[in-house]
Amino acid sequence: MSDYQLFHGDCLEVMAGMEAGSVHCVIADIPYYDIVNHSWDKQWPTMEAYQEWVAAWAVELRRIVAHNGSIYIFTDDKVNAYVQVTLDKFFLLLNNLVWFKTNNLPIKNVYGLRTWATMTERILFYTPQYDSTGWETVKLDVNNFEPLREYFRQYQEAIGVSKKQIIDTVGQSADHCFRWNSTQWDLPTEETYQQLADAFPCDFLRRDYEDLRRDYEDLRRTWNTDGNTLDVIMGSIVGASDNTAHPTTKPLWIMKRLITVSTNPGDTVLDFTMGSGTTIVAALHTGRKGVGVEMDESYFRIAQQRIAKAAQMADGQFVTKAGRAEDTDGLPMFGGEQ
Ligand SMILES: C[S@@+](CC[C@H](N)C(=O)[O-])C[C@H]1O[C@@H](n2cnc3c(N)ncnc32)[C@H](O)[C@@H]1O
Repeated sequence: MSDYQLFHGDCLEVMAGMEAGSVHCVIADIPYYDIVNHSWDKQWPTMEAYQEWVAAWAVELRRIVAHNGSIYIFTDDKVNAYVQVTLDKFFLLLNNLVWFKTNNLPIKNVYGLRTWATMTERILFYTPQYDSTGWETVKLDVNNFEPLREYFRQYQEAIGVSKKQIIDTVGQSADHCFRWNSTQWDLPTEETYQQLADAFPCDFLRRDYEDLRRDYEDLRRTWNTDGNTLDVIMGSIVGASDNTAHPTTKPLWIMKRLITVSTNPGDTVLDFTMGSGTTIVAALHTGRKGVGVEMDESYFRIAQQRIAKAAQMADGQFVTKAGRAEDTDGLPMFGGEQ
């Protein structure tokens, strides 16, 4: 896939044509249902109809999102519960994130309201896996470890000794990594790996432990924490530099924040209600690929232009080294311009 693909059309139709497991991360700022005065937010006659729409795209996401992918759905404080009870039927909820909008308008007229001023939006964070760390799910399918199991099988073949001889020499800690034909295979510790190299020197054992550990870890959901991955994300609403003619443009910084924590460079991010394309611009700025869908033609045109410009810049200015968490270059930790 080139760096991005954009579709002008209905998200359900587009998603139906997408390849299974082709998306690492979904970030969608969906219509919040009858909050803003635009036809796209008033498509559903009832909340039940809206929830049916949510369920319809959830079915597609179950197929499209990689087994260790991540799903972020923006909602507001009122609709959040309805979206959550619907999505909980399809995915495991990991967080109900709060975006505290540090410069939101209501704080300025708080005396004029007869309710608590709304300063937040919500982001539901889901995994398609069965457990919150991803380990149990990964281990359920022994095929996930196939290349690593094969590596240890070939190593044993190269040193030409039985598993019993290995365990007699190195100890029980070397047991699981040589169960390469069983569902109980597991990676040895770094210490055991070193003991193996010392006890059975062989050119074959040439991969660095860190390299093996990375392959092992990559089976889990990507998680590039920087110590500030807290469930309240603080930062400004969209500023003059990243606003567009779309009435609900999200700030670039928050999309970049979610993308850099939950994906690695080269991964694919999907936004199936992209509006002016903020998520896809953020994906390109951070060296990821983007797939965007928008049904409204005028918004689609805005997105196309923004994304084409971002892709040009990505050739030079934005794509950084192929690292991991350190690829958050230039991203504010707690939000954008104030
Ligand atoms: C909240 S806005 C997204 C704004 C976006 N985050 C941005 O920064 O510009 C939701 C968008 O979803 C689009 N939309 C609504 N229903 C859709 C559907 N069935 N398929 C594709 N797009 C849809 C709307 O036209 C609207 O632009």
